[in-house]
Amino acid sequence: MRKQVIAGNWKMFNDIQASVDLSAALKNGLSSLSVNCEVIVCPPFTALDTVRTVIKGSVIKLGAQNMHFEESGAFTGEIAAPMLKSVGCEYVILGHSERRTIFGETDQLINKKIKKALSAGMNPIFCIGETLQERESNVTFDVIRRQVVEGLKEITAEQMAKVILAYEPVWAIGTGKTASPAQAQEVHAFIRGLLTELYGNTVAGNVVIQYGGSVKPDNANELLGQPDIDGALVGGACLKAESFIGIITAAK
Ligand code: 13P
Repeated sequence: MRKQVIAGNWKMFNDIQASVDLSAALKNGLSSLSVNCEVIVCPPFTALDTVRTVIKGSVIKLGAQNMHFEESGAFTGEIAAPMLKSVGCEYVILGHSERRTIFGETDQLINKKIKKALSAGMNPIFCIGETLQERESNVTFDVIRRQVVEGLKEITAEQMAKVILAYEPVWAIGTGKTASPAQAQEVHAFIRGLLTELYGNTVAGNVVIQYGGSVKPDNANELLGQPDIDGALVGGACLKAESFIGIITAAK
């Protein structure tokens, strides 16, 4: 039985004070609930250390939004895996569509990052998803296959126990357009089928596949009720404690 994982991607929002306020409100709100899923927050780099302190003693885990694939070096402006580990990150989002489209990240680069995160002892949240144009040209499954196969190249079955996948159709991110539960389930089932081809039934059956793209408290229940949807990667709705908690309580 897979445990559902609800992660909040804060993106480029929240200075220190706003980060303290949001993480404290989240911690308080969750303290009186029986939470039966994993809860992760992914603040910007500048707030990681502060948020780590605030969430101490709660069920909330810490993640980052990106990472470089080298251990260290002359890479101005970049952040390495050991730095994230040292600040308490257990998770790191890799291959987000905003990284792919705005910053030109390729499947090969993302593969390097996933390998590095794993060797550093972190759990990658590996994002995949088609654009609107790709969906309309009926190449969704080809795109997903390429992203999964290239992104997971040379990742072993054993390592897959630490990898979370996040299916985020690009057309549903920040647009208010959610994939219907049936549309999302169809792609999730396809992804699990691909993982079965690559790693066999047992491994594929244990991989958590999150859905992301305009997840809100009022659509979370139905999305999270699909057999192959094992959680959510939340953008906009994670920036308010109340709505993020609303999604967390919808998790199975
Ligand atoms: P929204 O929930 O704002 O659509 O963002 C989804 C996302 O990109 C999470 O990584």
